[in-house]
Amino acid sequence: MEQSNLGERRQPAVFITGAGGEVGHGLITALSGEHCPDIVATDLRELDTELRKQCASTYLADVCDRDALDRLLAMYQVKEIYHLAAMLSTRAEITPEVAHQVNVNGTVNILHIAAEQGRMYGEPVKVVFPSSIAAYGFGSLSQKIAAGAVSENEHCKPSTMYGCNKLYCEHLGRYYAHSYRQLAKDSVAGKDKNRGVVDFRCVRYPGLISADTVPTGGTSDFVPEMLHAAARGEQYKCFVRPDSRIPFMTMPEAIEATLQLADTERKDLTQIVYNIASFNPSAGEVADLVKVHFPNADITFEPDERRQAIVDSWPSALDCSAAQRDWGFKPTYTLEQAFEQYLVPRITKQHESSV
Ligand code: SER
Repeated sequence: MEQSNLGERRQPAVFITGAGGEVGHGLITALSGEHCPDIVATDLRELDTELRKQCASTYLADVCDRDALDRLLAMYQVKEIYHLAAMLSTRAEITPEVAHQVNVNGTVNILHIAAEQGRMYGEPVKVVFPSSIAAYGFGSLSQKIAAGAVSENEHCKPSTMYGCNKLYCEHLGRYYAHSYRQLAKDSVAGKDKNRGVVDFRCVRYPGLISADTVPTGGTSDFVPEMLHAAARGEQYKCFVRPDSRIPFMTMPEAIEATLQLADTERKDLTQIVYNIASFNPSAGEVADLVKVHFPNADITFEPDERRQAIVDSWPSALDCSAAQRDWGFKPTYTLEQAFEQYLVPRITKQHESSV
């Protein structure tokens, strides 16, 4: 335990929001391994028992409820925050203002708490934030095809509420890290780039594929949905054309990369936002591979024009050279290896044990 300026003893903790989601599952399991910091996890819904066991404390809390978060975090010295709570792109297009509330106001609440704790303890609070390929936006499919692999600062004109929210939160993170209260008398902004009150780090995830969970409310969901449906012996109607191409990676790769970024020394990071991805198959190529492993898979393509337009606005590939250079990001799998070594064995085992 550490002593605060106020003379209270507070338990050091790693705080995770949106802990019950797909990324939260993998992250809690990875974090609660060897190094074992005290994990304080929150979500809108009760976490499942297995996850709860791996956390020091779990709370039902809404990231939009600033007072509740303040009360909760006043009990801890927060060292690191993984702010995962978000409403994904498809769901956000149904209720854009609610998405803004969750995705932006929730993030401001977290950044504010991080900044206040950083000021109070005189030590920056690390905030790790997953952004997304939704931060990009092409006006047409031909532009997308012509652009090829995009780097972090190109083509950032999102056409979804989720993408706008993520891109803006990246900027907010940069603001809290470098310029927070820059005109206040006691401001530390600008004094030392490596010693602000918030140490903000961000990965732009591609579509993620987990063997354990199926996403809800996203637009890259066609790949995990297709695979899990085949494993369950269910028919799948894919909502995009077979030639639709966006980057993906497996969940364990995303978790490993996120922790790698979190563990890198601040001075080695030359930017706030990093692209990561492992492969970028078309929906048709994924369907072919699914059929290799599940020969009875029944997959048809019935594109939904509006969800297709969102996928067409996202890049076909990402330039991940900054992440490779600054913190050694490296994909573990090709698509074929991901199927052979991670997805198929694990999904098949789960399926067998559930029948
Ligand atoms: N998986 C996200 C979504 O589909 C994109 O990163 O909304």
